[in-house]
Amino acid sequence: MANSKPIVVFGGTGHYGRHIVAQLLETGLPVRVLSRDRERAVNVLGSGVDVIEGDITSPLDVETALHGARALVVSVSAFSPKLIRRLWEIEHDAVVQCFHLAQKVGVPRVVYVSGYDIDKELVEKLGLEIGRLKAAVEEALAATNLNWTVLGAPPPLDLFFAFLRGAKLWVPGGGPPALPTIASCDLGAIVAQAAVRDDLGGRRFRLAGPDVLSFPQAARILSDVTGKPVAVRTIPLIFPRIAGALVGPFYPYVRHIVAALRLLNSFPKALADQAAADHRMLLETFDYTPTTLRVEAQRRIGGL
Ligand SMILES: NC(=O)c1ccc[n+]([C@@H]2O[C@H](COP(=O)([O-])OP(=O)(O)OC[C@H]3O[C@@H](n4cnc5c(N)ncnc54)[C@H](OP(=O)(O)O)[C@@H]3O)[C@@H](O)[C@H]2O)c1
Repeated sequence: MANSKPIVVFGGTGHYGRHIVAQLLETGLPVRVLSRDRERAVNVLGSGVDVIEGDITSPLDVETALHGARALVVSVSAFSPKLIRRLWEIEHDAVVQCFHLAQKVGVPRVVYVSGYDIDKELVEKLGLEIGRLKAAVEEALAATNLNWTVLGAPPPLDLFFAFLRGAKLWVPGGGPPALPTIASCDLGAIVAQAAVRDDLGGRRFRLAGPDVLSFPQAARILSDVTGKPVAVRTIPLIFPRIAGALVGPFYPYVRHIVAALRLLNSFPKALADQAAADHRMLLETFDYTPTTLRVEAQRRIGGL
């Protein structure tokens, strides 16, 4: 029976991955997750998930996890202080190998959670290694004969809350004039639906949420919700850039954070302008109720 075959999620314990898993579980589908730490994964995801302890860089672990699966979702990231030195090994080499192993063991459907968009000009201008990497992975996926879909993730709405300290939004560089984001639960719903659909093969979606906001606009919404003024404070980018120049050669994570902040502040206007159309496309294609920053804020910080 096709429906008793599990959906396998690589990266299922991650920021986005745990929402993907939660949404898959809500549909009643069996879910299997590959994690390097079984106990931690069960703590994060609950006991309703079949956790295979293993590493995505091990072909044996990957084949074991993929055995008898209906679809594979890849939402893996090595963007952490511990893993960043293995960025290409984990996020490129191992992920591309997973695609080939999926073909080998007969898993027909693959959904890859990537970066929001691959603007090659911007990637080169900012020297964005992560952008080059995602582009290479997407090209490798497109070259397979899998039924694949790429879902381009923007930053989560959580970004606004991550910069919030008391009643101030501390924003490195001040942020762009308009930034698409998405609620993590909405991304989870979209990815979960994409995983079990066969009619989205060869397509790429940018996962724009309903709001495309600057940080001052976000601050106004947070002020409204909390009833207290939330002010934006800009941290000049020169500080992280100096830190990057000084310690970046020894601590690649710092270099990548600085690159991510530069990307945040250089977010292309053309992409922001397209976000409303991207969002409409999602509403036409997937069945979910989009979460605005206002709703997310009401849920999370009703009393700041
Ligand atoms: N979060 C964001 O702000 C953001 C923004 C835009 C795009 N994205 C994209 O969204 C995707 C998911 O990112 P995320 O932020 O949700 O990731 P994350 O929170 O950093 O989680 C990383 C995940 O990767 C898994 N992982 C790492 N190394 C592994 C290995 N060697 N073997 C097996 N699993 C491994 C971890 O599993 P275990 O620890 O359980 O082994 C964990 O579930 C990525 O493609 C990322 O580029 C994220």
